[in-house]
Amino acid sequence: MRIDIITVLPELLKSPFEASILKRAIEANLVEVHFHNLRDYTSDNYKSVDDTQFGGGAGMVMMIEPIDKCISALKKERTYDEIIYMTPDGETLKQGIANQLSLKENIMILCGHYKGVDQRVRDHFITREISIGDYVLSGGELGAAVLCDAIIRLIPGVLGNETSALTDSFQDNLLAPPIYTKPRDYKGWKVPELLFSGNLPKIELWREEQAYLRTKERRPDLLDE
Ligand code: ADE
Repeated sequence: MRIDIITVLPELLKSPFEASILKRAIEANLVEVHFHNLRDYTSDNYKSVDDTQFGGGAGMVMMIEPIDKCISALKKERTYDEIIYMTPDGETLKQGIANQLSLKENIMILCGHYKGVDQRVRDHFITREISIGDYVLSGGELGAAVLCDAIIRLIPGVLGNETSALTDSFQDNLLAPPIYTKPRDYKGWKVPELLFSGNLPKIELWREEQAYLRTKERRPDLLDE
């Protein structure tokens, strides 16, 4: 998979890809992530990417021309499965969206800033608009990093244990059950006995029950989906 990210703040985006699982995935050539600075596609001396809103109103709007130049240059090189715009009014990111996107070959992500982008960008270039939650960030970069992390960890070979993404919370619309490791007894706080029984079917059943109970208590909305 290849991910191209268009941003006015590449420095805000880079560090998540230079650590941990994302770094390993890139080093193992399981994914390529490329950053494109929108200011490199401007035509004036000030490298302007934004301007005031037609019709008046507070806040600047990202102009279509540099975005068009950047997206068009990238599209000349390859075909994109999705051109995603990160925006608080997009569809809310859910595990299912990450699952779908993890199967794609080429994804482009445009990070918004200021008030957002000229509507014509959304009408003519964008194939999907994604929000990471009902709150407003100062730009799309952190949202793009969240989206990329959710996608990349699902690519086969990225997680050490191939099955572990399948048992994550939200796969199957259930939260994950409680988990424990050594010591068995810490200050009198004990691990449930059943987990030492060696009875794998019974343990599996217990985990399913716990996942259900936790979901019912914390996120009953998931059980209706
Ligand atoms: N840009 C600003 N707020 C955002 C959000 N909640 N999700 C994605 N991109 C954003």
